[in-house]
Amino acid sequence: MNLPTETLPTDAPWIVVKFGGTSVSTRPRWDNIATIVGAHRAKGKRVLIVVSALSGITDQLKAIGEAHADASRCRELYLGIVERHHALYRDMQLPSRNALDGWLARLDQLLGDARRPAGELSWQAELLAHGELLSSTLGALYLNARGLTTHWLDSREFFLARPQPNQGAWGRWLSASVEVAPDPAVATALAARGDVFIAQGFIARHDDGATAILGRGGSDTSASYFGALLKAEAVEIWTDVPGMFSANPRQVPDARLLSRLDYAEAQEIATTGAKVLHPRCIHPVREVRVPLVIKDTNRPELPGTAIGPNVAHAATSIKAISSRKGITLVSMESIGMWQQVGFLADVFDAFKRHGLSVDLIGSAETNVTVSLDPSDNLLTSDVLSRLCADLEPFCRVKVIAPCAAVTVVGRGMRSMLHKLSAVLAEFGALDVHLISQSSNNLNLTFVVDEALADALIPRLHALLIRAEAMRVDDAAVFGPSWRELAHGAGDDARATWWRTRRDDLLAIAAEATPRYVYDLGHVRAQARGLAAIGAVDRWHYALKANPHADILRALHAEGFAFECVSWDEVEHVRRTLPDLPCERILFTPNFAPREEYRAALAAGVRVTLDALHPIAEWGADFAGHDILLRVDLGAGRGHHDKVKTGGAQSKFGVSLDEIEAFRAHARTHGARITGLHAHLGSGILDAQHWRSVYVQMASLAEQFNRVEVLDLGGGLGVPSRPEDAPLDLDALAAALAEVKQAYPQFKLWMEPGRYLVAEAGVLLARVTQLKRKGDVRYVGLDAGMNSLIRPALYEAWHDIVNLTRLDDAPGEVVQVVGPICESGDTLGNHRRLATCAEGDVVLVAEAGAYGAVMASRYNLREPAAEIVLP
Ligand code: LLP
Repeated sequence: MNLPTETLPTDAPWIVVKFGGTSVSTRPRWDNIATIVGAHRAKGKRVLIVVSALSGITDQLKAIGEAHADASRCRELYLGIVERHHALYRDMQLPSRNALDGWLARLDQLLGDARRPAGELSWQAELLAHGELLSSTLGALYLNARGLTTHWLDSREFFLARPQPNQGAWGRWLSASVEVAPDPAVATALAARGDVFIAQGFIARHDDGATAILGRGGSDTSASYFGALLKAEAVEIWTDVPGMFSANPRQVPDARLLSRLDYAEAQEIATTGAKVLHPRCIHPVREVRVPLVIKDTNRPELPGTAIGPNVAHAATSIKAISSRKGITLVSMESIGMWQQVGFLADVFDAFKRHGLSVDLIGSAETNVTVSLDPSDNLLTSDVLSRLCADLEPFCRVKVIAPCAAVTVVGRGMRSMLHKLSAVLAEFGALDVHLISQSSNNLNLTFVVDEALADALIPRLHALLIRAEAMRVDDAAVFGPSWRELAHGAGDDARATWWRTRRDDLLAIAAEATPRYVYDLGHVRAQARGLAAIGAVDRWHYALKANPHADILRALHAEGFAFECVSWDEVEHVRRTLPDLPCERILFTPNFAPREEYRAALAAGVRVTLDALHPIAEWGADFAGHDILLRVDLGAGRGHHDKVKTGGAQSKFGVSLDEIEAFRAHARTHGARITGLHAHLGSGILDAQHWRSVYVQMASLAEQFNRVEVLDLGGGLGVPSRPEDAPLDLDALAAALAEVKQAYPQFKLWMEPGRYLVAEAGVLLARVTQLKRKGDVRYVGLDAGMNSLIRPALYEAWHDIVNLTRLDDAPGEVVQVVGPICESGDTLGNHRRLATCAEGDVVLVAEAGAYGAVMASRYNLREPAAEIVLP
């Protein structure tokens, strides 16, 4: 390595860099540390390195602490620790081992210490400190051997543990706190010694010089303490992840990197679940306004998460959703507490006596419920039962555990409540034990059963983005998603045929706008993808999605049958495809008038009934006919509540408890139920959905004598947002093949609409006007909700680009709106398009399904006309 040899001026800025367990466990990782430190040094910074113990060593030291009474077990663990450090030492090919062996000898002495058999806390603290003493010693030896002159420091000389009010003995020894203020004298004294230093995380000292431990994750805190003490330019926490995310990426692959947070938000996210940063490490740097940066050791080029003072003018946004497990709720119920002076003082006194710190509080006239977080408390069943015994005289106590606290974090939470309706609806279906809104207006927490948390978090994260409560379009705050970082940005699964046909599209728009343009090639490709799924015996196209004659002809040629929901749709297909046998038309109406059923039966179209009324009141019409029965399996799915078609709130299908009555009427009138049908919603991206529908329908069908066909409906979704994973057709094929094998007696039908046509269509519009109001910028188009109502009706997300300036860099965030006299006339909220000028052609993607067909002449503005590309 090419290192500067001159020493730095005394007032050179300090950078504190902290490395965790995995980053210090192997020689290559130490080479990496040398590179990072060397780069800072080369830029004229004085560097202080803070290290954790080698990975796993603190756990082994803890195990010695726990096995304190068992001398031979302690020795066995000790020998393992010696071997780990000697192995790394050998690998580092260092000249002398004396310094390392000095600490190992001290550790050996501790095994013979008089405090060991009782496992005294002072002994445990000293024991635990050895992980960092050893790793920092090895590190200093290695960096010096590599030519980077590095001075070893004992952190205990700098940090004095300060007892906290009501802190128990355990906390004093093993979860200590330190008060640090910038001390120029220390900085100057160190500067006189050299440029690069290494010290231990995790440790401090008591007044009498005895060792104290800062608690789990304390190395981050040590780095912060050093940052504050030296008034560093920055504290860099180097870890194995790119930074803090909007959710735990292991639970939510779409979680976004948070590039910029203020101290308070970072504190809140760290406290409420994110493991990246220890919650205690923010306070020391916050006081002295030293920025804290989280960086990824494996990808130092990434910006990471920068935590600093409040960002002025930042848009209010939810920043993260997190969860903490292992939460215990203590519910205290008393009739006598209402307006009773001192009730809370009495009960909280019991918590204080047991050294328990209370996290959340909910109170009512006769009940107070509090939560205890295991990371702040030593929560044994023993402690809890003693606590309950102490509380009994005041109230009836109920312990509810294990729970999870699900927290939504963002500055100005109370002003965002209106955007949380979808999130609240999600909680509405669950048993929520406690809701708490933090008085600093930074978080909203829901306590639910622990088992629910893992499935809940990804759903809530998606809902927060969808409701624009989490403003992921704000590039100053939200970085790439975890998925993108893991697999590269090329993960966008959305179809973009229109990029290659840009010139054709611009030529069409030059003639007139607005225009819907369809690419039949894309429709055919989608159809062939589905047709390759062998388990499906017959595919129908649900033409409600787009009844354009050319599309019907293309799909007819691909071998599709057709599903209609009105008599006019039936007639339209028959007119468009005169050679189509009526038997290949399925009629699935809902609340249609009697004449439509009669006409369909007379024409030989297959009819599906989805209510008792037709068979009960008009039964004779169906005599001698084969019919399908549409059942409601109970729960709907889909991209929005308005497209879920299951459950009592949905008007579709016969509920399971009415099926017997339906059969009785059918028998009476001599109608044969030869098929069962279910369509539970639209825009579903989970391939397993249809497997579960098939299984439920097949077991239901086994109770009938003549059911031959199971129609699983449509609902196949396409990705809308960049982060959406596409429907996995292979998984769908495999799932259907499997269930088909289990029930080979049935013919399997499906009836997708959207999947075939959505991506094949785009809406072209022209920019009419630009406007700014306050901070909000508007781009007005000549197409609005009269052409495409989906964004207004379902908050649907359509990709929007400035087709005229497709390759320009994105400009400011804008609202893309139409010319209709409605505030809801939006095509896209908070979009970043290339800067628009009047006359530019804007393309709205994924507009081939439920676009033109749902258009209206509202305001007497003609909606976009349709054009088909051959
Ligand atoms: N079968 C039945 C009985 C249906 O009701 C529907 C759609 C389909 C099949 C086709 O569903 P698809 O495969 O297209 O998801 N306008 C809404 C969608 C409404 C869907 C109505 N029924 C939207 O723009 O998202």
